Amino acid sequence: MNLQGKRLVIGMTGGIAAYKVCELVRRLRDEGAAVRVVMTGSAQEFVTPTTMQALSGEPVATDQWGVQGARAASAMPHIDLSRDVDAILIAPCTANFIAKLAHGLADDLLSALALARRLTPPCPLLVAPAMNVEMWNNPATQRNVATIRGDGIEVLGPASGSQACGESGAGRMLEPHELLEDLIAFFQPKALAERRVLITAGPTFEPIDPVRGITNLSSGKMGFALARAAREAGAKVTMVAGPSSLPTPRGVRRIDVLTAREMYDAVMGYVNRADVFVGVAAVADWRVANASAQKLKKNAGAAPPALQFEANPDILAAVAAMPGGPLCVGFAAESENVIAHAQAKRAAKGVAMIVANQAQEVLASEEAEVHLIDAAGVRTLPRASKLEQAREIVAAIARHLG
Ligand code: C5P
Repeated sequence: MNLQGKRLVIGMTGGIAAYKVCELVRRLRDEGAAVRVVMTGSAQEFVTPTTMQALSGEPVATDQWGVQGARAASAMPHIDLSRDVDAILIAPCTANFIAKLAHGLADDLLSALALARRLTPPCPLLVAPAMNVEMWNNPATQRNVATIRGDGIEVLGPASGSQACGESGAGRMLEPHELLEDLIAFFQPKALAERRVLITAGPTFEPIDPVRGITNLSSGKMGFALARAAREAGAKVTMVAGPSSLPTPRGVRRIDVLTAREMYDAVMGYVNRADVFVGVAAVADWRVANASAQKLKKNAGAAPPALQFEANPDILAAVAAMPGGPLCVGFAAESENVIAHAQAKRAAKGVAMIVANQAQEVLASEEAEVHLIDAAGVRTLPRASKLEQAREIVAAIARHLG
């Protein structure tokens, strides 16, 4: 659970994207957050407070004078609701509501509580705009968005695409899973703020002929989790990924490749701008030297094809050998003597840190025990999800950067 113990206010204003917030509230609770929903009058034209009460498990606040019929204990819900919360997210946030935030209007409960939130220590306010493309592009809205950004309000999205009104363009509210990922990222420490991180992830695929090839059981989960964790920590992340159907983490630039050589070329194209390089990919050590341009035929009685192999470049070792290159971190999946083999690998490749794990246990799994091996020694992180491990690895990388 990525939001365990977090207390959130979800403010809803009048937009058809309100239906997506029903799903968001469920998912926030699945992640361990306690959610209080506040709705404007217009929001209630799209979704009822009863729906939001059922989903949040809490009474819904709809006006300044009470909470779902009952008078608030202090008759000051705009103050009570914004105290002791970890963040306020307004979703959907209309053009009208952005204008109210920009100008400090407080003529209903939600705008009043946004204005009444504490600035020291700050109660973070995030908004997920949702509106027609012309409303979004209007200079008045753009001015207001710039104003609220300047006031420290976090603007999530909007996305571009087809809209409920039938038009198309910028102004779609982010999907619930995207808002969830952004909110989880918001709460992570920014240990890699502004750092540029280059990551390889997934398996590679070495062709035998146009339809066959050699690959391995790497799922890409660890590399993708690391890309997500680095982005959560504030880094600018580029991920060079071998064939994987996993979704790209939010805010990560992804470059898809097939073979080890393509991965090497892509890495070399970006590495000069990287502060950190993390080789998570399970790169094929050899490629087929005599790959066929045409599909190999199975002729009755004929001998099977004789494949010849040649070595692929070692991407991690090549980056580690670059003078003035980035801080390098490698992974080692070993089937036996995990720590000893990984220590030898750290020395051989000349990298700052190796993350070692048991190959049979880690491939395609959701969880792993890992050992962080660097000049200071070995630190074992007990079995946990790959995302949790990735966050620990990111923290360790940040300490190495100093
Ligand atoms: O040499 P070995 O494959 O055991 O080392 C694993 C580490 O080296 C991983 O970090 C992997 O991403 C990296 N590697 C690489 N290029 C290769 C082979 C491994 O970058 N050709």
